[in-house]
Amino acid sequence: MTPASERHWLRPPSDDRPASFAYGADYNPEQWPREVWKDDVRLMREAGVTVVSVAIFSWARLQPAQDRWDFEWLDEVLDLLHSNGISVDLATATASPPPWLTTLHPEILPVTRTGETLSQGARQHWRPTSPVFRKYALELVEVMATRYADHPAVVAWHISNELGCHNIYDYSDDAAQAFRDWLRARYGTLDELNRAWATSFWSQYYGDWAQILPPRLAASHANPTQQLDFKRFSSDALKDYLRAEREVLRRVTPHIPATTNFMVMGETMGMNYPDWAEEIDFVSNDHYAHPGPQRLDELSFSAALTHSIAQGKPWFLMEHSTSAVNWQPVNVAKREGELARDSLVHVAHGADAVCFFQWRQSAAGAEKHHSAMVPHAGPDSEVFRAVAALGRTLETLTPVTGSVREPARAALVFDWESWWAVERDSQPSSLVRYRQEALDWYSAFLALGVRVDVVTTTADLTGYDFVAAPVLNVVPLELAARLDAYVRGGGHLATTYYSGVVDENDHVHLGGYPGALRDLLGIRIEEFGPLLEDVEVRLDNGLTGTLWTDRIDVTAPDEVTVLARYETGDQAGRPAVTRRAPQGGGSAAYVSTRLGRHGLPEVLRPLLSGAGVHSELPAEARGLVELTVRTDGSQAYWFLVNRTDEPVAFDAVAGEVLSGPAPTDGGGLVLPSRGVAVLRLASGGTPFRDTSA
Ligand code: GLA
Ligand code: GLA
Repeated sequence: MTPASERHWLRPPSDDRPASFAYGADYNPEQWPREVWKDDVRLMREAGVTVVSVAIFSWARLQPAQDRWDFEWLDEVLDLLHSNGISVDLATATASPPPWLTTLHPEILPVTRTGETLSQGARQHWRPTSPVFRKYALELVEVMATRYADHPAVVAWHISNELGCHNIYDYSDDAAQAFRDWLRARYGTLDELNRAWATSFWSQYYGDWAQILPPRLAASHANPTQQLDFKRFSSDALKDYLRAEREVLRRVTPHIPATTNFMVMGETMGMNYPDWAEEIDFVSNDHYAHPGPQRLDELSFSAALTHSIAQGKPWFLMEHSTSAVNWQPVNVAKREGELARDSLVHVAHGADAVCFFQWRQSAAGAEKHHSAMVPHAGPDSEVFRAVAALGRTLETLTPVTGSVREPARAALVFDWESWWAVERDSQPSSLVRYRQEALDWYSAFLALGVRVDVVTTTADLTGYDFVAAPVLNVVPLELAARLDAYVRGGGHLATTYYSGVVDENDHVHLGGYPGALRDLLGIRIEEFGPLLEDVEVRLDNGLTGTLWTDRIDVTAPDEVTVLARYETGDQAGRPAVTRRAPQGGGSAAYVSTRLGRHGLPEVLRPLLSGAGVHSELPAEARGLVELTVRTDGSQAYWFLVNRTDEPVAFDAVAGEVLSGPAPTDGGGLVLPSRGVAVLRLASGGTPFRDTSA
């Protein structure tokens, strides 16, 4: 049999129809009486649903007591789906342990930093490192895999669910033991650990591994390297759990690919997903929009990051919402057009599957106010009509499946370690928000209409003309050397305040900031100048800085141009933005304050033109329309997404409109409010007449 990793995961092996988009949802039939199931599959067909994720929270239903199993209902559901041509992404069902298990073994419950034990009664109340939990969970995985190995509906395994959503940080005794083992593997000897953790500070020297604990609530700031290592460990501990489930599945059902749904969105920082991606057969992601001025930017940013985590391969949008969620402070409904537009932004960034949480809106339980494909109002509703319309749109986009996102010429570096590092306690400013700064840079690219890839620090940067790496705080010498070589080789780099400061052990690179990047940037900073929350400074280019300033001295005056100076504040007269352009190389720019999404485009525009990177959109569409390109090598698919509530007109476009509004008589295109067009043309071409200016 073809190995799972080489086969297309959208189709069962027996199905030789060409690949198409997968479309569907989480399906929780156990919440409904049998009579509803028939109605479900009928409506699924009406909506164009091809795949559903089943049994995610079914453990208590499948194993109602330690020695009792009940699979008949699930057999029936899978048969019913299969006979209606709907594939199943089958959960291993381990996400939420049943009450009998937590009653029998309360030692599987997670413990918080402040020492409280979390109770059963919600979901995901298990310790990632608990050997007892693992024994029961893996038994369930084995039973599931064995029972459904040959069920024709099953096209993929869905391992657990959103690993780490609620239990990423556990401070229990199991965690302490696993943390020690992890540290022993990382450092080898206690001497090494004591050096890395700088335990000569505050009398923290460890003389025995058994003395080491997770960073539980302490009298003051916990050791910062211990904190950073605990974040690394916690991500690794869950990854190890993921691997344990996957091992069982690979052994019992090597022909079925396995995935787990990541949460590349918002503030989900605990799981270092780029580092997890190797463990699964294809990447899936859950994304929920966060209302606010950067709602759509954030959606696109997360999708671009997911594409990069999937290493350029098509990925699976496992969950998003048809309308409101239930877990934000105020749960805003989607406006007309947003259901389809949000989905297609993910598709533009490489998703070959579009799924929702969930199929039928629950009548009871904590998520009864969360939208679904079939809302409380029933199928006679705007939401269901929009759902069915999206099903038809995806069908017209069938040729796009399997194509991949065409690499951009600019990249934005996103680094989990820097994210973890700058948002701990005991920093120069507690106001720095790593992901927000990265998102603001992404917004600036969108505002300028320039396509950008989001990449991690391990990515090969040499193919990019321009690389932005904001707040790159953790810079091991090896990374500094690669950035140096990138610029020497002709690349153009831009970085910001609080970059280059520490190494992988959180030890400061001495001699002045930005430490490891000091020589590359040709500047030296003796002291940081963070700003109080309500303080702003003016720059001589008309922009305003907040959050941070630096006391910059230029150390390579022949090669460094000061692009902007501070006009007000403690650094008045000193450089605010600099650019070093060494002979025969590229350039390295430094932005020492927070300019935000409105100010950054002003600084980014000249840096991009200096790197020869220009927008591929006509001038009048920049900022209003997001452009993403997918390609299969011979055909290119240009996704044009109207980011605004007004129509956007292009006076002429070439290529075939695969989906979206029909061309005007003059060969132009009018994208309606929140509308999306997908144009097909030969790879390497452009649909636009004029993209100069
Ligand atoms: C997550 C979970 C789902 C559901 C949704 C609600 O993504 O995986 O089970 O709780 O959130 O938004
Ligand atoms: C987190 C997740 C969401 C959802 C909520 C539910 O915020 O990111 O997907 O599951 O929890 O509590």
